[in-house]
Amino acid sequence: MKVLIVGSGGREHAIAASAAKSSKVEKMYCAPGNAGIAEYAECVPIGAMEFEKLTAFAKETGIDLVIVGMDDPLVGGLVDELEAAGIRTFGPRKNAAILEGSKAFSKDLMKKYRIPTAAYENFTDPNAALAYLETAKFPIVLKADGLALGKGVLICQNLEEAREGVRTIMLDKKFGSAGNEMVIEEFMTGREVSVLSFVDGKTIKTMTSAQDHKRAGDGDTGLNTGGMGTFSPSPFYTEEVEKFCEEHIYQATVDAMAAEGRPFKGVIFFGLMLTEDGPKVLEYNARFGDPEAQVVLPRMKNDLIEVVEACIDGTLDQVDLQFEDNAAVCVVLASDGYPVDYDKGFAISGLERFREHEGYYCFHAGTKFQGDKVVTNGGRVLGVTAKGRNLQEARANAYAATDWVEFGNKYMRHDIGKAIDEA
Ligand code: AMP
Ligand code: GLY
Repeated sequence: MKVLIVGSGGREHAIAASAAKSSKVEKMYCAPGNAGIAEYAECVPIGAMEFEKLTAFAKETGIDLVIVGMDDPLVGGLVDELEAAGIRTFGPRKNAAILEGSKAFSKDLMKKYRIPTAAYENFTDPNAALAYLETAKFPIVLKADGLALGKGVLICQNLEEAREGVRTIMLDKKFGSAGNEMVIEEFMTGREVSVLSFVDGKTIKTMTSAQDHKRAGDGDTGLNTGGMGTFSPSPFYTEEVEKFCEEHIYQATVDAMAAEGRPFKGVIFFGLMLTEDGPKVLEYNARFGDPEAQVVLPRMKNDLIEVVEACIDGTLDQVDLQFEDNAAVCVVLASDGYPVDYDKGFAISGLERFREHEGYYCFHAGTKFQGDKVVTNGGRVLGVTAKGRNLQEARANAYAATDWVEFGNKYMRHDIGKAIDEA
């Protein structure tokens, strides 16, 4: 079959690499793609938000299956448009992608269906939010309601910072219309775990766990980013934690969405915090995590296309999802200055070395071709992933492989997976 992947980051590269192993795939396309994805797919210069062009391309090309990787087009309703044109598509419709698109919606859903999460209030009026803060406990967490590239969350240590935060989100509109509404929630402490899952509207099958590193600097310092590295599995995601989440979070979320008339088909990403009072949901995303996908998909034994089709057809209950009994670590190579300000356009060398090594991957996040050279084209540039028999070995392998590639302004964290030693 002909498959079209929508997106251009490391996640879409990992999806393309996994889909390429399927015997069902005859030809792959990616819109808009990047220099790494081009190894597996023909990249077409259509943006992920150009719904009409994407639909027209899919029809003209006879695409049999579209996989939407990114949040913006999902929340904007790309799946609905493609389906209306008769094209089979993997991903939630607009009315279900709201699980990620509106934090106020997802908090209300969790409250209504008693899914464990931080206590909170939603606000559409900045004055009401400011008044609420007067009696609040600190630290406190402010969240812009809508999509903000993972940056719309402010952790405020005191009243003054929180007042400033409300102004930033609701009055200065730093995150645009994402700040028309906001959530103010209790600050929680604990380890974070990402659990991705396949969902077919009623059945949910979780994938192996992972942990991201969101801050830009070593020791979890600096600004929040899209993610600087991941490891999988998380040693903190014990059988006990998993059992609790199965009983109180996973199926409960899928059932809640169905009960609301918003059946969810696609990937639900559970951002969990393991608190002293048990696991709680920090956030939902309606897609694979990035860079979580870069450590989870390489460990999946199943044919990705078969699983994706089972989600679309509502037959996920018949799928036996299996992961390798090993570990993977991904270290993101970024442009120095990310997530604020950085130069790009530097030539990247050494990429070919990954082809010579089984169990090593170099997923492209922000690259493009300049002539026949691959150059940097974003804040996050590459995700260097390696497997190992255990987490320690995977981490050593991944860090060794970060030396294989060079480019101007190369920056990385040196402590991805440090938590492994504390397990
Ligand atoms: P989110 O985009 O909702 O995942 O938030 C980004 C990051 O902010 C999370 O990964 C957490 O590290 C942190 N965070 C979000 N909500 C809370 C909370 N209620 N308590 C403590 N930290 C939080
Ligand atoms: N790595 C976090 C995310 O994909 O949102």
